Amino acid sequence: MTRIAVLVSGFGSNLQAIIDAVEGGRLPDVELALVVSNRREACGIRRAVRHGIPVIYFPMAPYTRAGRPRDEYDADLAGLLESFDVTWVVMAGWMHVWSDAFLTRFPSRVINLHPALPGEFAGTDAIARAYRAFQRDEIERTGVMVHLVPDEAVDAGPVVVKEVVRIHPEESLEELKERIHTLEHRLLVQALHQLLCEERQPAPGSSR
Ligand code: GRF
Repeated sequence: MTRIAVLVSGFGSNLQAIIDAVEGGRLPDVELALVVSNRREACGIRRAVRHGIPVIYFPMAPYTRAGRPRDEYDADLAGLLESFDVTWVVMAGWMHVWSDAFLTRFPSRVINLHPALPGEFAGTDAIARAYRAFQRDEIERTGVMVHLVPDEAVDAGPVVVKEVVRIHPEESLEELKERIHTLEHRLLVQALHQLLCEERQPAPGSSR
């Protein structure tokens, strides 16, 4: 079993996509070991509870209030995930940028979802910013990518999967958001499936 942690800050629809894929057998030999939220009001917490997945609310505010650096929060959270024997970490709408204090504990095992193409619209509100760029005739398409997180750069890193989304002149921002979220749900599961297949592939020349 590959034990994964999903980190959320909000609605948790991408967490739900992973839960559905695990429960539906589309991510074989995967166990959702833990969900972590850094926001108390995140709907993702309720989704985890509903499906019997351990969930921990782990905010950074107490660290900030105590004058403790972000590195300490990151290291403590890494330790928490290790205590749940987690080997893969999925950032599914997780609003926090990792320092090396976290990333060095899960090298090449942290993935992130970004509702835009590589190198475009990094940070929050990516879909709305792409939509406005479309209205200004600057772009004709946007997209979705899932990537590994090697360092502190926001929404950047080796791409696992990506897909282009054409923007239709007649569609509203809400309609575009809906199409992109639907695609995110599929691509996140596809990326996880792909990475875990690669990891489980026997090395060339081995007898397995
Ligand atoms: C997604 O669009 C994700 O790409 C972005 O935040 C959103 C989270 O959605 N980083 P949800 O919480 O999974 O519904």
